[in-house]
Amino acid sequence: MLAPSSVFLLLGAAITAQAGAIISTTNNPAAPLATPKAYVPLYKTLPATPVLPPNARFQGTANVNNIKLWYTLYGPTLKVAKKEPVVLLHGSQMSSRWLAFQIRHLIASQQDRPIIAIDTRAHGRSTDDPAVRLSYDLFASDAAALLRQLGIKRAAFFGWSDGGNTVVSLAMGPSASLVDRAFVFGANANPGQVNVTGIETAPFWDEHAARMRAEYEAIAPVPAAWDTFTDRIVAMQSKLPQWTSPDFAKIKTRYEDPDKAPIIWFSGGDSEEVISRDVPGALRDSVWGSSLVVLPEVGHYAPLEDPATLNVVLDRWLAKTRD
Ligand SMILES: *[C@@H]1O[C@H](CO)[C@@H](O)[C@H](O)[C@H]1NC(C)=O
Repeated sequence: MLAPSSVFLLLGAAITAQAGAIISTTNNPAAPLATPKAYVPLYKTLPATPVLPPNARFQGTANVNNIKLWYTLYGPTLKVAKKEPVVLLHGSQMSSRWLAFQIRHLIASQQDRPIIAIDTRAHGRSTDDPAVRLSYDLFASDAAALLRQLGIKRAAFFGWSDGGNTVVSLAMGPSASLVDRAFVFGANANPGQVNVTGIETAPFWDEHAARMRAEYEAIAPVPAAWDTFTDRIVAMQSKLPQWTSPDFAKIKTRYEDPDKAPIIWFSGGDSEEVISRDVPGALRDSVWGSSLVVLPEVGHYAPLEDPATLNVVLDRWLAKTRD
């Protein structure tokens, strides 16, 4: 595309586009070129953290596994809902706020479904229990305990990053029957799949770290516990998950149990920088009958970078039937 020269700008905005398209710098060599707007792909950006929509049916905590687990509920009540709830699980050091673009969209597009977002143990507004180590199995057990308290027998689970690992743990574990379907974005099967170079060279990494800390200090039950919390997360992520074929084989496949086995879509950004790019495909290959969705132009932060594209895909995932 040609940038309009200053000469054309003097003639007024209305004809600039037209003139710019016809006259090239070759026949107007003296005209200085306006600097074209730089192309910044979505994966190089970290948009502001959205806020949760105001019209929650419930926001508060439930006592599960010796902690207070914070969650929020939108949409129809569990009693009147015609379809299973969607449960959203955020990533490491985030809170449910980071899923606000998805929550807003799903409230409107999935009016038959309750929408539930959980602040993971030790994250956001949920409390921690220093006596136990953090693990994805524990996070999964917390989510399962909450759903049992709410009387929910089946749900659709969206998990991002560590939240995705929690969904995988749920599907492998004792509460697997809760999982009607799973959308797992940016998960990993072992710590070796983390892309250290990708993280270190992400243009927004320092800002990201500062933002997580400021948000934690604003809402955590113990705002001063950031360093302890971070140490506990690093301890978990440096050892877990450790999933190999026998673990993935615990997930019922749609071939074995077409009526009940979870519909699983593994997903990642085409420009993923936190987890190695081949991981979503490898996860998909680990669970027969699961599917792979690669989102365009985004990285690990796709739910903020391009909510519109992700949200459309989430609607398609929720629309999938078992026929
Ligand atoms: C790690 O991230 C860098 C930077 O985003 C990227 O160029 C590279 O392909 C990634 N490596 C893998 C294995 O995904």
